[in-house]
Amino acid sequence: MCGIVGYIGNKKASPILINGLTRLEYRGYDSAGIATIEKNGIVVLKNKGRVSELEKILDGESINGTIGIAHTRWATHGKPSTENSHPHIDNKKNFAVVHNGIIENYHELKDFLLKNGYTFYSQTDTEIIPNLIDYYYSKDVLNDDKKVLRAIASACAELKGSFALEILSTYLPDKMIVVRKDSPLVIGRTNSENYISSDIPAILSYTKDFYLLNDYEYGILSKGSAEFFDQNLKPIKKDFVNIDWNASAAEKEGFDDFMLKEIYEQPKSIRETIGSRLSSDGSCNIEDLNLNKEYLQSLNKIYIVACGTAMHAGLAGKTMIEKICNIPTEVDIASEFRYRDPIIDEKTLVIFISQSGETADTIAALKLSKSKGAKTLAISNVIGSSITREADYTVYTHAGPEIAVASTKAYTSQVILMAILAIYFANTLQINSDLVKNLTKDILNLPLQIEDALKNVDAIRNFAKRVYNEKDIFFLGRGIDYNVALEGSLKLKEISYIHSEAYAAGELKHGPIALIENDVTVIAIMTDPILLEKTISNVQEVITRGAKTLVITNQNLGDHDFDNMITLPNTNSLISPVLSVIPLQLFAYYISKQKGLDVDKPRNLAKSVTVE
Ligand code: G6P
Repeated sequence: MCGIVGYIGNKKASPILINGLTRLEYRGYDSAGIATIEKNGIVVLKNKGRVSELEKILDGESINGTIGIAHTRWATHGKPSTENSHPHIDNKKNFAVVHNGIIENYHELKDFLLKNGYTFYSQTDTEIIPNLIDYYYSKDVLNDDKKVLRAIASACAELKGSFALEILSTYLPDKMIVVRKDSPLVIGRTNSENYISSDIPAILSYTKDFYLLNDYEYGILSKGSAEFFDQNLKPIKKDFVNIDWNASAAEKEGFDDFMLKEIYEQPKSIRETIGSRLSSDGSCNIEDLNLNKEYLQSLNKIYIVACGTAMHAGLAGKTMIEKICNIPTEVDIASEFRYRDPIIDEKTLVIFISQSGETADTIAALKLSKSKGAKTLAISNVIGSSITREADYTVYTHAGPEIAVASTKAYTSQVILMAILAIYFANTLQINSDLVKNLTKDILNLPLQIEDALKNVDAIRNFAKRVYNEKDIFFLGRGIDYNVALEGSLKLKEISYIHSEAYAAGELKHGPIALIENDVTVIAIMTDPILLEKTISNVQEVITRGAKTLVITNQNLGDHDFDNMITLPNTNSLISPVLSVIPLQLFAYYISKQKGLDVDKPRNLAKSVTVE
């Protein structure tokens, strides 16, 4: 999705902007642009294509400004083209704007502006914004130092939808104004500069001190200061937060791709997620969470709501909460949940899982749940992200920055956090203490077991080399293994573009088996001892019909005729997804590599889906 970068300080802005855009490339984009304030006014340079091409264009220009805004665009309104790229500028060239989000009422506003004599060069929703600001600026009879801010606030009050905006104006040539509503934007500060970005990793090498804006808060940024105003333009005091992520954690550190690095980081990220939350005696303490026994006993249901990989972590969470806490739990996709008028009230706890904390559908689902009186709990990886500011409670995964679009370490951290949460609930409810103690021991063993699981890399790479040209690959599993099958299949489609489906193995006979023919690849996950025999029978059925099979298990399967088998360390089946997903992540990675694809930036996908 669109990425925003900005700089205001004493240094030349353009190299800093390009550096930031490069770091945001992983979010997915089709064009890029920058605007700086130069001696003769605002200069805009933009083009369709990669940031590296924009950099070449910049080389031929004398752009020396120390204030600038920049953008990578992921087309929503209007095709990828130079005209549609950001920044956008008003007719009189006094306001330049970059925007992440969608303006839902832009047709209406465009008609209004057309009637008032404005013209448009692009098909974007964004181009109306600088013109609307100009409209309000020209109407304002007062000439004080808040005139630009007033015009921006009047324009923003008209906008429906979502936006994070950076605005330059020739009327305030040594300042930049930023504002957000339902789209991400952070401000990193030093004593003499402000850095702006859609996310923290892009500017982490410059500073670790960040201001976080709430909806409709305005920031007026200068070289060494930042002033903030609320929706009514009353000054507000804002403290910055220190983010303790290591800047090098956002670099590749010798790995070919971020995805591979992040797969190998999992022993560490799981250790961080566990942190000091669990003790070997089964006690559990989650910072800032104080749900009491009466409240948990009063619950009629827990919902877990998320998108994509985070939703798959939610599926594992459902099994854990139901098994350990006896609370009925449902998992829903945020984009469905928000529009289906779910039955929730003050006796429902709704848990939202989001790596980025900025997923538009998940945030909307959270707001809906709150409006119906439910308590909300956010599980996120990004400190201060939108979802964490909306929810009643937040628990962080602490997996460190995840850059590759295909989520790996965030997923395993989310699964483990769900297990820790289930343990916390069970302890609070004073139930299942033996189960909790055993599960806790198994969780604490996981980091070392992940290291062992990663040792299967050669076998996986060889299997990937054999099957990378396939048209279809199927995944099978039962119970919690089915959840992992869904995640393995998603990973594969995301980065290899191979058609893939995951099926609950018991459903095979109800349709999917018709797709099995000679030499089709089927990957089966079987870690739950209770379901083992059943899944083995299903795999036999596909072998009989000519399928090539890869079985992933942590059980002793004795004699078998599977083509390939990966044996993982044994653990409690409730947390087995953390181990069984590892060969599937490596499989997707090596297929993508074998096909020569861009693993970290798969086509059409975005890391942070900030529009619906
Ligand atoms: C996008 C990403 C997925 C991610 C999903 C949810 O589709 O490509 O990797 O799982 O969004 O993102 P979130 O940040 O809410 O976990």
